[in-house]
Amino acid sequence: MTSLVLTITETLRYRGKLGQWAWVLHRVSGFGTVVFLIMHVIDTSWATFYPELYAKAVAAYKTPLFTVGEFVLVALVIYHALNGFRIALFDYRPQWWRRQEDAAKLVLLGTLVLLVPTFFIMAGHVVNYYNERVSVFDLGLESVVEATAPFAVGTVVVLGLALIVSAGASVIPSLNAPKKRLKGSKMETFMWSFMRISGILIIPLVFGHLAMMHVIQGVFDITRVGHVPIFTNLGPNMADTLTAVNFVRLRWDTMLAGVYIWRIYDILLLFLVTLHGFNGVRYIINDYIHGRLLNRALRLASAGTMIGVIVVGALAILQSVPATTAEMLSQTSQVIEVNADSDVLGR
Ligand code: HEM
Ligand code: HEM
Repeated sequence: MTSLVLTITETLRYRGKLGQWAWVLHRVSGFGTVVFLIMHVIDTSWATFYPELYAKAVAAYKTPLFTVGEFVLVALVIYHALNGFRIALFDYRPQWWRRQEDAAKLVLLGTLVLLVPTFFIMAGHVVNYYNERVSVFDLGLESVVEATAPFAVGTVVVLGLALIVSAGASVIPSLNAPKKRLKGSKMETFMWSFMRISGILIIPLVFGHLAMMHVIQGVFDITRVGHVPIFTNLGPNMADTLTAVNFVRLRWDTMLAGVYIWRIYDILLLFLVTLHGFNGVRYIINDYIHGRLLNRALRLASAGTMIGVIVVGALAILQSVPATTAEMLSQTSQVIEVNADSDVLGR
């Protein structure tokens, strides 16, 4: 922990050039995206497992606070992707190393060039939504707290459990013996290459996903009655309630050339992004947390969360999202008291 505090103070004090800030921004953007990813995959899985909760989560996505977060997220992902591409490219081309500074500037420029039109289009979706569908402006804080509180509680529980297990493991001698170096380093070399190759494979997948959710259509379209979800062939979303759930169903049930195209796409995205992101978190933990107990606890918590995200996310994609409101009602055999899709801002 002391090394984390020291790193932050020294980062601010150290007069490094662009390279230092590019490294900091890469780390912050990667970590921030992992935090979002955990919430996002679990939220999305609710479309299959707890439709009403998914509708509530998407209602929170439409609040002003989340809208600001959405812009920040898009900026972080675009910067991380371009900078990650630079890192991967230069690692395999040592002869270019003296041009690192120029390349870091190019990444900033590229981020700006991509962000300006993207933000412009996203802002258009926001303005349309507020003009057409919002009668009363409301920050929607209650909805944001409701959507994020389970994750805050979950984080505390996972960290607590990991600390207990880690403390238990510290009294087992065989688990504390020094590691065999050769085996460890082979694994690390593999992970080093995996980070670069997965990063490059993720670029089209993540950019495609963001284009579909923020540019071609907006986040607000997920709950718009009559909207045809992007690249689907099952007709418009005519659900009278839980439109967000139906949006996911229309996407995941769309078949192209005999295959569930968006299920395959999302499975690939899920595996690559989660393995890449959590291995990055492992690097960050190992860089800053050197105490054996805390280091082991955090790595355990991170690995457990990674497995949880992959299993829950994959199960949600592989099963069917309930088809109709009637079906959902008969499944849950309870009346949905609140139509969580009628967003907190009013329509
Ligand atoms: C979009 C394409 C992406 C590319 C090209 C990319 C590339 C990279 C590269 C080259 C690294 C450095 C690995 C190393 O130091 O060995 C890295 C680190 C990392 N990436 Fe990505 N990445 C991408 C997407 C993502 C996404 C979507 C996430 C989050 C889910 C993420 C999270 C991380 C984290 C947490 C690190 C560790 C940062 C550090 O050690 O400072 N990346 N990425
Ligand atoms: C606020 C921004 C985002 C929105 C509104 C959004 C929306 C969605 C929606 C509606 C789905 C359901 C399936 C579909 O229609 O394809 C989905 C699934 C998914 N998204 Fe996103 N997405 C966002 C950002 C991201 C980012 C940045 C990543 C990667 C880092 C990501 C990774 C995924 C994954 C892995 C799935 C599959 C989830 C599961 O298995 O439960 N999304 N997203």
